[in-house]
Amino acid sequence: MKWDNSFAIGIDAIDKQHKQIFEHLLAIENSVAKRDPWHILHFFLTQLTEYMKFHLAVEEALLEIVRYPDRDTHCGSHARLIDQITTLEDQLKGKPSGENLVGFFEDWFVRHVLASDRDYAAYVTKEFPELSGASAT
Ligand SMILES: [Fe+2]
Ligand SMILES: [Fe+2]
Repeated sequence: MKWDNSFAIGIDAIDKQHKQIFEHLLAIENSVAKRDPWHILHFFLTQLTEYMKFHLAVEEALLEIVRYPDRDTHCGSHARLIDQITTLEDQLKGKPSGENLVGFFEDWFVRHVLASDRDYAAYVTKEFPELSGASAT
């Protein structure tokens, strides 16, 4: 799955990071499709995991700055996302032939994460329009 502009939530800095996450997912998908050995796949998975942690920390800092009322719930969903990545990693390690596992993760990411990010984005763009940044993309 590729980044689609319909995934954009309207906060420029965050949209750039979400795009970057798709790049990492694509690298994993390609690696799985090529039947790369585990150590190569693991390299791409590590990049995704580390980038995801960075992204979630940025979001959590943003939600604190703007005093987002549902911050705790949102941070809870971030913790589940990290769990999901760990599960994906374990499954790919066991049988690195599962393209559909990556697809499943992408699907989950799009449905759950981008959807709940959209909720805080609506709050931020309304209450703190200066933080949303003029999207030039
Ligand atoms: Fe989020
Ligand atoms: Fe996000």
